[in-house]
Amino acid sequence: MKLLAPSILSADFYRLGEQISACIRGGADILHFDVMDGHFVPNITFGPVVLESIKKHCSIPLDAHLMIENVDKYIPDFVKAGADMISIHIENNYHIHRSLELIKSLGAKAGVVINPATSLKLLEEVLHYVDFVLLMSVNPGFGGQKFIPRSIERLRMLKAMVLEINPKVLVEIDGGIKEDNIRQVAEAGADIIVVGSAIFSSEDVEAQTRKLKNILISLEAL
Ligand code: DX5
Ligand code: ZN
Repeated sequence: MKLLAPSILSADFYRLGEQISACIRGGADILHFDVMDGHFVPNITFGPVVLESIKKHCSIPLDAHLMIENVDKYIPDFVKAGADMISIHIENNYHIHRSLELIKSLGAKAGVVINPATSLKLLEEVLHYVDFVLLMSVNPGFGGQKFIPRSIERLRMLKAMVLEINPKVLVEIDGGIKEDNIRQVAEAGADIIVVGSAIFSSEDVEAQTRKLKNILISLEAL
């Protein structure tokens, strides 16, 4: 089953709880949190305190995408706050094996994130230590960006690598995914699909979530 993971970065934070409930009613499978520190990426968002509040009311897994420096210092706080999945970037984590093992030792699923122009070859060894890979189809830092077209080819290559090296690993894709390309990314091998602005910019978050989720469900029927 292909899973839909709304990214709250594009939500109306004045109505965050209401919008999260709406996308869960619409069939969201996972909630994606874009954590940014203004250093690794040129934007600042939120920390564990936001996850903690949402966890109390949220029935679906929380997926924390850490676009921050010094992840080891903050991983325990995100697990404690309720993160079920934590992904860290291959680009700025020099001791990535240690950080991934830390995530798993604390009971969360461990993911590695790779930016649009970073070679997939860097994943060969790390695929032995992760539960999922997050393939960026935009440059991290902002919602509402354009999907980078080469990401489809990278998705296919990544899926082939996963099947060869560690078939248990799930492939998650993140950035610029909308109604007009969600089918394409699902067919190219994505297991978890992050969608931000295409959901939260809609007047009806529940209906828009359901529309995207129904596209994924329709693929299962094929
Ligand atoms: C970008 C984030 C993405 C982004 C997705 O740094 O990692 O999760 O919020 O938003 P859209 O779907 O609008 O590209
Ligand atoms: Zn993200």
